[in-house]
Amino acid sequence: VTTASCLMFTTTLSPTEKPFQSVNWVFNLTTAIIFVINSEITIGPEYEGRVTFFPSTASLELRSLTLDDTGEYGVSIIQDGKILSGRTTLVIYVSSVLVTSSSTDLVEFSGSVSLSCSASGSSLSFLWLNGSSEVTASDRVHLTDGGSSLTVINVTRSDQGPFSCRVSSPVSTGTSDGPENINLILSPPQGCFAVGSDISLTCSVGSRPPAQFKWFLNGDQLPDTGSELRLMNVQMSQSGNYSCQAFNNRTLRSQTSQPSAITVLGKCNFMLKMYNSTIRF
Ligand SMILES: *[C@@H]1O[C@H](CO)[C@@H](O)[C@H](O)[C@H]1NC(C)=O
Ligand SMILES: *[C@@H]1O[C@H](CO)[C@@H](O)[C@H](O)[C@H]1NC(C)=O
Ligand SMILES: *[C@@H]1O[C@H](CO)[C@@H](O)[C@H](O)[C@H]1NC(C)=O
Ligand SMILES: *[C@@H]1O[C@H](CO)[C@@H](O)[C@H](O)[C@H]1NC(C)=O
Ligand SMILES: *[C@@H]1O[C@H](CO)[C@@H](O)[C@H](O)[C@H]1NC(C)=O
Repeated sequence: VTTASCLMFTTTLSPTEKPFQSVNWVFNLTTAIIFVINSEITIGPEYEGRVTFFPSTASLELRSLTLDDTGEYGVSIIQDGKILSGRTTLVIYVSSVLVTSSSTDLVEFSGSVSLSCSASGSSLSFLWLNGSSEVTASDRVHLTDGGSSLTVINVTRSDQGPFSCRVSSPVSTGTSDGPENINLILSPPQGCFAVGSDISLTCSVGSRPPAQFKWFLNGDQLPDTGSELRLMNVQMSQSGNYSCQAFNNRTLRSQTSQPSAITVLGKCNFMLKMYNSTIRF
């Protein structure tokens, strides 16, 4: 799960036209996020390009959140000789955004949080959990991109989560294993063939989901894929050691068969006839 979130630290101050004398947002008490004095804005180097300041309420928007943004956020505001301050804590998990307590009423969270879930595979379905209950869509909770993205609008403290995403696919809900017990079967079951014969090689293997196949002649890959390799009207040049390789794209494992030697002989028929005629005598 990746987070692509944007959070708003909103103050509870009513919007004012008159600029604040100074506003200072800090992270973990020491790192300057933004410092505003007489409407002149200085942004801390770690926050360039990912904060927006709202002068009328001294609220702050923070974007492109990462795990490193976990910590305490504080603001002090000077207005008409009075000092107002507020603090809040943000905890970000890999799979969720958790919004926790404000120590004063001055700062609240709002804004939207988007979480997206990614996994490889086809026909995936996504289920989002809020704690242990299933997330359902509403005005405030949007599920998009086939359910892989969750957006929560006007995040509140009750959206503590933790949010997690469960991915399933028709295949991966079953177990995957293999490939194992690979076997290369020749039909007809012999090693010596006459020129012009038709030969079928079948690669049998245990694999869930079904394996994908590659074929090799003397170690060189053949263009064929599929569990059966058919050699029609064979020529002597097709003699050699054949092997197949099975690959399971879920377990990402492969297995290669023992080579089977195929010899294509122009004289096969002739030798067989000689043998038969020997019997007759
Ligand atoms: C900020 O503070 C929190 C909790 O006190 C700590 O876990 C986190 O590592 C701090 N972050 C940075 C970047 O120093
Ligand atoms: C989000 O909050 C704003 C301002 O409080 C409100 O106007 C809007 O209707 C809210 N949106 C939803 C989906 O609740
Ligand atoms: C998550 O669960 C809490 C408490 O069960 C609920 O108040 C909140 O609205 C839920 N949030 C979402 C986004 O489902
Ligand atoms: C994985 O292998 C199965 C079975 O051969 C196939 O249907 C599926 O398309 C493959 N998936 C990918 C991502 O290649
Ligand atoms: C096939 O394999 C056998 C035994 O492993 C080896 O003696 C032979 O040279 C191989 N043939 C070719 C064409 O590589």
